Amino acid sequence: MATSFSNPNAIILIGYMGSGKSTVGRMLSQKRNLLFEDLDDVIAHDAAASIPELFIEKGAKSFRELEHQTLKKVLKSAANKVISLGGGAPCYYDNMALVAATTPHVFYLNASHKTLAQRLFPEKKGRPLIAHAETEEALQSFIAKHLFERQSFYRQANHIISVDNKSIETVVAEVGKLI
Ligand code: S3P
Repeated sequence: MATSFSNPNAIILIGYMGSGKSTVGRMLSQKRNLLFEDLDDVIAHDAAASIPELFIEKGAKSFRELEHQTLKKVLKSAANKVISLGGGAPCYYDNMALVAATTPHVFYLNASHKTLAQRLFPEKKGRPLIAHAETEEALQSFIAKHLFERQSFYRQANHIISVDNKSIETVVAEVGKLI
């Protein structure tokens, strides 16, 4: 386990799609007077294409490679920043080890598959991994399995914040208390 961190005041938020990482991250950064960066936004900006475009045109494997390279770049300049990662980022290559070596302030925003399916079903079209789900129930089953596969990565975070039935303000306050 890392004993010294490359950017010890950085705050990194991880969790499944729809767990609120970007909204929480943006509000937290404003409260703490830090900069905010969303890994997906950096990827999309650098590639001059949207995440669904990249996923569909280049394929999942090449998206994960791009994500890995961009994560390394973002972590290098993470000082004084709140950074939210895409839901899959912690689960590929050695990404989670790189995150853990950056800062002790890594937060997993943990939402149940039920909450996630409710939030994500109306916006599934813009999300390549879940666009196939025909009903909210089908989406719930898909997420339950997918979350199970990803838990071992997400749970390497230093802090796990349960977000079910909580407002963004409450989640931001809970994260703030742990920094
Ligand atoms: C993904 C989550 C998305 C985005 C891409 C893949 C995933 O980010 O990176 O569509 O594998 O869970 P958000 O979690 O920010 O929606």
